[in-house]
Parts: sequence; structure tokens; C-alpha cells
Amino acid sequence: MMPYESDLALRLTPYVAGEQPRDRQFIKLNTNENPYPPSPRVAEALSGLCDMLRLYPDMESTALREAIAQVNGLKAENVFCGNGSDEVLAFAFAAFFAGKRVLAPDITYSFYPVYANLFGAAYETAALKDDFAVDVDALMKGCCVALANPNAPTGILLESGEVRRLAAHCRDHGAVLLVDEAYAAFAPETARPLLDDFDNVLIVRTFSKSHGLAGLRVGYAMGSERLMDALRRVRDSFNSYPVDRLAQAAARAAILDEAYTAETSAKVIAARDRCRSMLLKARIDVLPSATNFLFVRADPVDAAPVQQALRSEGILVRHFSSGRLKSWLRVTVGTGSDMEKVTEALIRLIAKA
Ligand SMILES: Cc1ncc(COP(=O)(O)O)c(C=O)c1O
Repeated sequence: MMPYESDLALRLTPYVAGEQPRDRQFIKLNTNENPYPPSPRVAEALSGLCDMLRLYPDMESTALREAIAQVNGLKAENVFCGNGSDEVLAFAFAAFFAGKRVLAPDITYSFYPVYANLFGAAYETAALKDDFAVDVDALMKGCCVALANPNAPTGILLESGEVRRLAAHCRDHGAVLLVDEAYAAFAPETARPLLDDFDNVLIVRTFSKSHGLAGLRVGYAMGSERLMDALRRVRDSFNSYPVDRLAQAAARAAILDEAYTAETSAKVIAARDRCRSMLLKARIDVLPSATNFLFVRADPVDAAPVQQALRSEGILVRHFSSGRLKSWLRVTVGTGSDMEKVTEALIRLIAKA
């Protein structure tokens, strides 16, 4: 008998997201959400919108794209919006990598191989260096590249000169360089200046981390009009209205409140750096982070028991059980008081391990 499922459905290996607990109150430091609520302007933007929900939204998210363009010194034609950056990334894999080779660091956002598999791209990896930094030379293989910068789950930033070198290599080979900047708000520099010089660079960002809007599901891409056109073609072959009315209005209000984002990001960065220096003082390895999380070496062999011990104390962090990641825990930066608790617990538990 033929199976009900398509070959495609049977051969997928889906992404596994971090735990979203429902049963008790945790200090939740496992999925890189912002500890602060979104800008108060978000609630104002949403009030009175209910009646409008009977109408379909603007499928081009025009007002939101204009706001994103304004904040980034671009034109709205250079911006594309989607239902979370995961969706924008999926569209990008379909638009630029399907049927081609795409190269990524061996340790990076684990959704990339899932999209490659879904859209029939040949996914290849290049090992990170021993210190977990991205090896740009190893990514120069004449094909498309997917680069999370800063990288996840390491938190390490690849400096912009190196990203530029990679962009030029990709352009010379007719290939797109996707720079996933989910965490760029917490980093000292971004790839945005490359858009003035390269038509093959696609930057993807999210409102989930920097704008306290993980529950809203809005992400966006920035790049040349040619790249935006390709994303639109994919979107309109899938769902013409991926960003709803509430999401467009809320995300627009959030991105225009630049002072609020700067203030909350500064608090996250300060708590991150304080936690890292305390862990380093306790002789615990922590990678340098340009994100809203820290990657902490919790055990010489396997950090799972430390993760479990933290969980029993009401603190959720993320552990990846594969290869070089096994000894490490990814700890999202929370409020100052969350970080005091997790820092104390990590020092106590890791010293014991
Ligand atoms: C590197 C990276 N890209 C993209 C995303 C997805 O973010 P969004 O909530 O916009 O789908 C994440 C979320 O954890 C991430 O770590």
C-alpha cells in the first residue's frame, strides 16, 4: 500500500525548538527571549484595531517596511517582511538556495539544514575554528553561504571586514550571502553597510529578540530589489498574507521607538557582560558574546546534568547534545536579578561538577 504521506513529509527531519513550559513559573533563559516587555507604543498602536480585523492586511506590509527602511537608511523596496525571521529564512532558502549548494559553519542555527532539506538544497558545512570563531576561508568554496552573525549558539561576532571579504567572494561566484542578524541589536556592528555595495547580500532580522516581540512573529529581510522580488515570488506561492494587521502595526510602533530599544538592549548587554566577567573570575569558560545569551562550558564531558540541576532550581537554559556542544550550556540574558540567580547557581554547580 502507498503511504498517506508524501516522500517529502517522510524524509523531513524537523527542527527541535527549546522547551516552552506551561506547568510552572521558571526563570526562562532557554530561548533567547527579551526579559523586558515591548515598547509601550506597541499597546497604543494595537488599541482600536479590532474592528479592522475583518479585512485582510496589506500584503506588502507597506507602513512597516517604510519604518524599517527609515531606521536602516534604506528604501522600502529594499525591505521584505515575514511571519518571524524563521519564515523569512525559509523563503530565502527557497528563493536563493533550492537546487544549489549552500555552505554554513558546522555549528550554527540548526534550522538551516532543515530548510535545505525541505527545499532540496545541498547543505555543506565548514568547521568552526578551535576557539569557535567562524573560519571565513573555509566558507569560500564558490557557492552560497548562510551565516548567522553573531553566530548561534556561540554568540561570537565575525567582524565586518571578514563578512565583506565573504560577500565579495560570493558575488564573484554569482552566489547569495545570507547574513542572519537575529542578534545584531546586541552587537557593536552589523552588515548593513554592505548593502550599499553588494546586490548579493541578504540580511535577515527579527523583532523576537531585540524588540521583546517573540510572541508576535515578525521578521524581515533587507537587500537589493532583485533579492526582494525573489522573496516575494516565493511568498506569493505560499501565503500572500503572512504578516497580520496586528503584527504590522505593533512591529512598526516597536521599531520606531528607537530610544526604548536602545535602553532595553543596553540593560541586556550590561547584565550579559557582568555575568560573563563573574563566571570568568570563577574560572568558568564563557565565549565572548555579541548577543543576548552566553555560551558557558558547564562540564568537561556533558553539561546535561548541570542543565537538569538548574531546572530543578527553577531555571531553564538550553543544552545541545551533539559533538563539541555537549559540554556547554546556552544561557539567555535575563533581568539583572535573573542573572544574579543564574550566575550564583552556575558557579556553585560547575565548581561541584
Ligand atoms: C540565529 C537565529 N535566527 C533566527 C531565529 C528565529 O527567530 P524568529 O523568532 O524571528 O523566527 C533565531 C531564534 O532563536 C535564531 O537564533
